[in-house]
Amino acid sequence: MLKTHTCGQLRTEHTGQRVTLAGWVNRRREHGGLIFIDLRDRWGITQVVVDANASPKSHAVMGDVRSEYVLQVEGVVKAREPENINPKVATGEIEIHVDKVTILNPAKTPPLEISGEHEVNEEVRMRYRYLDLRRPRMQRNMMMRYEALRFIRNYLGDRGFVEIETPILFKSTPEGARDYLVPSRVHPGKFYALPQSPQQLKQLLMVAGYERYFQVARCFRDEDQRGDRQPEFTQLDIEMSFVEREDILQLLEELVTGMVETVSDKRLARKPFPRLSCAEAQERFGTDRPDLRFGLELKDVSDIAGRSQFKVFTTTIEAGNKVRALVAPGCAAYSRKEIGELEEIVKNAGAKGLAVIAVEADGTARSSIAKFFEDDLMAELITATGAQPGDLILIVADQLQIVNEALSTLRGEFGTRLKLTNPEEMCFCWIIDFPLFVWNAEENRWDPSHHMFTSPKPEDIHLLDTDPGAAYCQQYDLVCNGYEVAGGSIRIHDRIIQEKIFSLIGLDIEQARERFGHILEAFEYGAPPHGGIAPGIDRLVMLMAGEPNIREVIAFPKSQRAADLMADAPSTVESYQLEELHIKLADNIEQ
Ligand code: AMO
Ligand code: AMP
Repeated sequence: MLKTHTCGQLRTEHTGQRVTLAGWVNRRREHGGLIFIDLRDRWGITQVVVDANASPKSHAVMGDVRSEYVLQVEGVVKAREPENINPKVATGEIEIHVDKVTILNPAKTPPLEISGEHEVNEEVRMRYRYLDLRRPRMQRNMMMRYEALRFIRNYLGDRGFVEIETPILFKSTPEGARDYLVPSRVHPGKFYALPQSPQQLKQLLMVAGYERYFQVARCFRDEDQRGDRQPEFTQLDIEMSFVEREDILQLLEELVTGMVETVSDKRLARKPFPRLSCAEAQERFGTDRPDLRFGLELKDVSDIAGRSQFKVFTTTIEAGNKVRALVAPGCAAYSRKEIGELEEIVKNAGAKGLAVIAVEADGTARSSIAKFFEDDLMAELITATGAQPGDLILIVADQLQIVNEALSTLRGEFGTRLKLTNPEEMCFCWIIDFPLFVWNAEENRWDPSHHMFTSPKPEDIHLLDTDPGAAYCQQYDLVCNGYEVAGGSIRIHDRIIQEKIFSLIGLDIEQARERFGHILEAFEYGAPPHGGIAPGIDRLVMLMAGEPNIREVIAFPKSQRAADLMADAPSTVESYQLEELHIKLADNIEQ
């Protein structure tokens, strides 16, 4: 070893010992004949002192040293004078008086500041990710991520789960995104698909009799990027046989509770995790991933709005659509400009407009739409929303889905603006009782609400033939602070039902057999009842670390445009490589 101790290790009890440290120069200061270096490694920072009188040779070497040089230093541990003790650093009571310095490697001036917590341009961070990862914030995040994985592996291992790796080069396993394809050299014109999740494989492992499986699994989805989405991300993939929904919810709740309490300093706002049906979540919060750290529940005012003279509302109701409201407490004095911003938010969420009513101190309404309401009706509206004097009522009229999307986005906005979201809290909840299908009007067919392997509720199986839209399924999502952090279900293990689902989502029997023949066939060889779940590791660690997006907890993430800015991927390839893969680029693409 080139070091005897780490830079976070030495204390007053080591006083008098001769030690060797190695690491990076975090900071360098000069005072008269003394040079002070904060030497940094993964474990901490230790102050190193070189005295020109005591060790002129080392002092001369240190003269050339700059930030981020890699050094090896040898010297003696000394207790600092009381006035020089730095209580902010774990090693702050000692320093190393050095008599031998070796420059292991010099460093150019880094393009981003490594010590300290300054904001750095994200593009620079991505381009020099290996430097960004040196920063204390990123080191903390990477350590937390590892601690989370270690907790998970121990927890599941102790409960009889076995980690089994499944292939990355596989066949399309759709989860609703576009596939990443890999061309085959050996089979001209054929492609592997990278798994969007190991869904089929984990089910096949249940058929194979493993009963309790998990995997820290990389998943690949070609979809539009957001702060909580990456083209490749990591799931804790879990599957169990001979279980019911309750078994999986219990297991995961205990796992997540233990993990948060062990590896993060966030507080769990509610234990046990509350459970909401999908319908209740939509009704109260306008979304199936509500942030339950605060109230601000939506109110349906369709009935009252339908009795007004406001055309926008009455035509909405006549068309069978909805008028719903959100109350922003204490915001009655919002300016025209501020309301314009809110209107922009709902329009981005698909709504046509935003009607606002300010409740004055005397309880009366101030609003451009007040003239369309009799006084009594307006009073009824204010009461129905629960608004108090000084509050602002925000109303959207549209198709239910659009209203909910718009108002739940607005609700999130007010959660932040009004500081209702305690950053120290993690508020988990289960969302259960999802409909089996959602109607895809563009394609004129049913889409699975979760995925196509999810079992309908047993009591709803008969609806598949008569009224599939009314059937519920055995899906469950775990939600935290407004993020979906896990999704899972009890699966279909019967070939006939699986084929029926395929046909309802628009796959004919030939297509279904070509794409999923292996799993259909497996169901005929004694498939046990089974179910599972997959928490997104990136999202969970993001929340535990208090970070605003998952790029902060992934060592080498992709940019918003799915690129690696450090290695410059994706990139062009040699023409012989394309030839080997039997690929010809379109004429308008330059290689
Ligand atoms: P689902 O598609 O709901 O379920 O994914 C499970 C969890 O994975 C995380 N996640 C993502 N994280 C980062 N970037 C992404 N692009 C991304 N997409 C999803 C979310 C989500 O809750 N096979 C099923 C699970 C099962 O049924 O057992 C599945 O993949 O946290
Ligand atoms: P207009 O009569 O179109 O100028 O609209 C009057 C007010 O109603 C404006 O504040 C609009 O933003 C609002 N508004 C328009 N369409 C809707 C809608 N679908 N839901 C709620 N408010 C709306």
